[in-house]
Amino acid sequence: MKRIITYGTFDMLHYGHINLLKRAKEMGDYLIVVLSTDEFNWNSKQKKTYFSYEKRKQLLEAIRYVDLVIPEEAWDQKVTDVNLYQVDTFVMGDDWKGQFDFIQEDTDAEVVYLERTPEISTTQIKKDLNKKSLATEHVSKVE
Ligand code: CTP
Repeated sequence: MKRIITYGTFDMLHYGHINLLKRAKEMGDYLIVVLSTDEFNWNSKQKKTYFSYEKRKQLLEAIRYVDLVIPEEAWDQKVTDVNLYQVDTFVMGDDWKGQFDFIQEDTDAEVVYLERTPEISTTQIKKDLNKKSLATEHVSKVE
């Protein structure tokens, strides 16, 4: 059985995430998603998600391409995860290109960067919704 692993926050799940998970699963038989916890996001990136870890996990578990969701709690857990779950392929979107090449040297897994789906990200959704609500506020003030 070929095992694939990928990492991310997957907040406000969108079609860019689904595309990534679908292509990752197609590379093997069993897809593990290592999902950043709320604490890890805050401590390492000062990032506060819209959905909590438990909600993001629940959404990912409902996706047919995903077989297992485990927590990401530290930057340096990747080599341990890859060895523990006997992973064959480590997959990330190409916004991370080159950054995880060391995994190929330190483990038996192959590292693959998949092309990101253009024009969609959680950050972009948040920005667009913000712009829309500001515009609505402006219209209601004018009226
Ligand atoms: N991803 C992708 N295409 C997109 C957005 C994300 O392939 N348009 C991939 C990322 O490359 C990563 C995974 O989905 O491998 C999880 O990405 P994440 O950072 O959680 O999603 P983003 O939408 O990029 O979130 P943010 O804007 O907060 O960075």
